[in-house]
This record gives sequence, structure tokens and C-alpha cells, in this order.
Amino acid sequence: MSRVAFALAACLALSGCSSSDSQPEPEPFPEKDWPAEAATLLEGSDWYRHAVFYEVYVRSFQDSDGDGIGDLKGLTSRLDYLKELGVDAIWLMPIMPTPFKDSGYDISDYEGINPDYGSMADFEALLAAAHQRKMRVIMDLVLNHTSDSHAWFSESRKDKTNPKADWYVWSDTPSAPNNGCGTANPTFGDSAWQLDPARGQYYFHRFYPEQPDLNYQSPAVVDATLGVARFWLDKGVDGFRCDVIGLLFESASECDLVPETRDYIKKLRKVLDEYPGRVMVAEPSKLTDASGYLGSGSDMFHMAFHFGYGYFWGLPFAAQNADGIVDTFEKSLATYPAGAQDALVIGSHDVQRAFTVAQGDDTKHQRAALIQLTAKGTPFVYYGEELALRPGKQEVVDQRDAARTPMLWDGSAGHGFSTGQPWIAFGGGADQYNLEAEQGDPESMYAFYRELFALRRGRAIWGTGAMEVLETGTPTVFALYRADDFMAYVAAVNMSDEAQVAELVRPELGARTSRVLGAGTLTLTSGGATLSLPAQAGAIFRVR
Ligand code: GLC
Ligand code: MG
Repeated sequence: MSRVAFALAACLALSGCSSSDSQPEPEPFPEKDWPAEAATLLEGSDWYRHAVFYEVYVRSFQDSDGDGIGDLKGLTSRLDYLKELGVDAIWLMPIMPTPFKDSGYDISDYEGINPDYGSMADFEALLAAAHQRKMRVIMDLVLNHTSDSHAWFSESRKDKTNPKADWYVWSDTPSAPNNGCGTANPTFGDSAWQLDPARGQYYFHRFYPEQPDLNYQSPAVVDATLGVARFWLDKGVDGFRCDVIGLLFESASECDLVPETRDYIKKLRKVLDEYPGRVMVAEPSKLTDASGYLGSGSDMFHMAFHFGYGYFWGLPFAAQNADGIVDTFEKSLATYPAGAQDALVIGSHDVQRAFTVAQGDDTKHQRAALIQLTAKGTPFVYYGEELALRPGKQEVVDQRDAARTPMLWDGSAGHGFSTGQPWIAFGGGADQYNLEAEQGDPESMYAFYRELFALRRGRAIWGTGAMEVLETGTPTVFALYRADDFMAYVAAVNMSDEAQVAELVRPELGARTSRVLGAGTLTLTSGGATLSLPAQAGAIFRVR
């Protein structure tokens, strides 16, 4: 495997890299005390707009007891790693008790901890340790369905008259009232109805048959699930990532975000607002339009994942054409309500590793991450992407396991993950692409992520500054202009395998330029600037 050869690493210092070696070193731009700024931004109620979030699969992060399964104590022992990396908040994939038919997204007890991962005391210790380091913790809230082993379902399925008889969606026929909202997803099968012989009826399941959908037409279900949110908020969690939250209610004509679902989300938001500083981020089901989840900007979600970019960047990069990226950001800029915050990803536990999406081209992964980390919004980085973890081959639950293999901390046999047999085989290239190896390599993916995180740190402009998608005159070059009242940047990516020169059209782009990351030059002109990027390169220029 070749080493990461992305030109970004050519300019490691965060400020003062000159745009061309032949030019005299320009006067430095004014700076602030960035660590102090970071502390202030991350303490306020808008902390989530300035935080770097990191998604953790506890099962695969760090094992503490040698059983081969990552656990809460293990994660706690790695908080210093995350802090050092530049992570401000972690999102925990489900950690509740589960029969594990959907990797924990099938919950059998909303108020417990999966014994594989530890105890409630371990969770409380994790939360305290994170807060002590001024890091936040949000958790997955999976409200559309439970496990079929949940006590609620055991009761509901008994007969048609028990107190929880209407807590799930039951029907005499495997069809309406939510025709059309069934599964058409190869992961979950093709029928959304399952016959329950005991009750003599079919129940609706949008996902695996072991994940019956809760019936939100029942007010008791609304109360019980809002109670689940309160339970964890009372424990001190900083918020939630809400799983497939658009699917709570189905109607005959529509499945996603019907008016009753919006009303529920507003109720959930009101519960959160009783607790200062808590936030929630939506997993939108409409992959190319998250705006519906953001309501007025203050009555539904604080953030929603931008899958229009995050789950589709592989296509424009493969085509060496930025049009699709331009479109999705133009759309979010035009449709998101004022006050809403974009949540930017390039992947998650549900899709392939960035390494795979990038077809093994680390420069593509880095260029995609450069857009994720410089566009207006809050980045959510999936664990291991900072090392460019390679996919695994073993399947324990389903094919998504390829992107859920253990974290690679070092080059030893257990890779620092576990002293026992890991629950799933390590991903590819584990001897070469692990933290220990990459820490010693200034051109590694790890070095790249650290550099970008450091460039974000304390600079409010990334989370909340204005954003414009610049006209570049060519689909091979994507460029953003970011500005607030203190500073301005141009972030640019060459989509193509060949060097590109683009004319950026925008009067008053800046006063002078200084490249702070990457490779290439930016020369200001009266109508904008001339941007020159080497093949497969990205760059960030400060222009004010
Ligand atoms: C979400 C989760 C996914 C899970 C599904 C059902 O899409 O991200 O992993 O399988 O919901 O809970
Ligand atoms: Mg363990």
C-alpha cells in the first residue's frame, strides 16, 4: 500500500505558509487566543455549533476486560485520545440491553445498559470523566421501534385486550393503514408485516422483524418514550442522535415526517429545552432533504445530518465533477431555516468506510473531509476515519459490519483493542494503518485530521460564519467562501486527477491571501481570484 501522498501535508504549519515559495512572506493576519476562544464557544448554549462530534461504536472502540468486546470502561480510558485529537463531543451508538439483531438498534430495555458494555455505574463514570474533560456525550435515541424482546412487546403480543395491546401497530392483514411504508431495503427484507401466531395478527416492522414499530397513535406510547428521553437527560447526557425519527407515524399516503411526527418532535424538543444546553440531531429518512427536520429553526431539531453530501460524495468524486456537491449545498443554504445548524458527515456506521467510498484513494477521502470540515455546520466524524480504517470482511450481524471493525491503536496482535479474541475480525491493512504507525507519519490520515481539527479550534467562523458556494467556472473545482466579522477563508477542492486553474467570481473576496493548509495558490483579482490547484489537491486560504 502506498503512503498517503496528499499535498495538504505539504503545509503543516497552521498559519504563515506562503502561497508560493517565490512570493515574500506576507504580514500575518490578526489572530486571537484560539484556545481561549474555544473554551468560551464550547461553554455557551451554542456549544454544538462549534464542537467537533465523533461517533463511537462502543463495541469496537476499546475493550477493557479481555472479552473481545469494546465497553464503556474502555471508552473512558480513551477519552484523552479523543480530547487530544480535537474532539469536543461524542455520540454513542446504542448502549442499551439488546438481543443484537440490529447491532443494538433493537432495544429490549430503554433504561438499562448492555451488560457486554458494562453497568449503569460505568456509564455514569464515563459521563463524569467526559464532563471533567469538558467533553459532551450524546446518545442514540431509538424511538421508532423496540426489540421484540422488550417487555412492552411481550405484553402487547399476548392478546388484543391487554393494557399495551395498542402499543404496536397491529393489523388483521399484512397491509394498510401504512401501505407503502414497508421495507424495500435489502438489509431489512421486503415485507414489513410479520404474523404473530399468539395474537393472531400481523405487526408492522419498518426494519428487521425483530424490531416491531411502536404505535405513536397511542398517547401512552408518546408519554412513555418522552419519559425515556427524560430518564437520560436526568442522568446528564448532553443530548440525542434520533434514529429514523421521521418514521414514527405512518399515514396511507406518506411515511416520512407526517404532521403527527412533526408534532411529536416538537414535544421532544420541549422536553430537551427544560434542560439547559442539551441538543438533538436528526437522522433524516429523506436522504437528500433534511430541511423538514429543522422546523422553524428553534422548535424541532438543533441539527440534521446532511446526507445529500455525506452519503453521496463518492459519486461526484468518481465523476471528477462537483455539480452534485454544489447542488446539495445550494439547497441547504436556500431551505434551512435561520438558526438551524447543518450536521456534516462523510459516512457513518450505516454506509461504507470513507476508504471504500474513495476507492482506496486517500486524497479523495481527504478532499471529501476538507469539504465536510470547512462547510458551514458541525462535523460528525465516524470513529476510525481519522486513521482511514480499511473495511473488514467478516459479517456478524449484517453487511454493514464491514465498517464496524475494531479501532486500531497499535501494531500488536490485538492492536491495543483487546487482549482477547475480538468479537469481529480487524479490518484490512491493520499492521500499517493504526494509530501508532500514523502518529509517527506526518503524511498520514491521522496527521491530516488533526491539522484540520486544529484549524477549526476556537474559530467560530466554521460553525456559524456565512457561507457562499463560489462560482468557479468549472465543475472540476469546488470552492467555498466563509466569512464572519473577524476573518474570511476560501476553501477549495480540485475534484480532478489533473491540475486545475479556476476563476473564482466574487468581487471583494478578500484583501490578500495566505494559504493555511494544502497546496495551490490563490491570487486576488478585481472580480474575485484565480485559484490554481495541483491534481487531486485541496487547500484553505485565509483572505481576511
Ligand atoms: C438507523 C440506524 C441503523 C439502524 C436503523 C434501524 O438507520 O442508523 O443502523 O439499522 O436505523 O434502527
Ligand atoms: Mg469488554
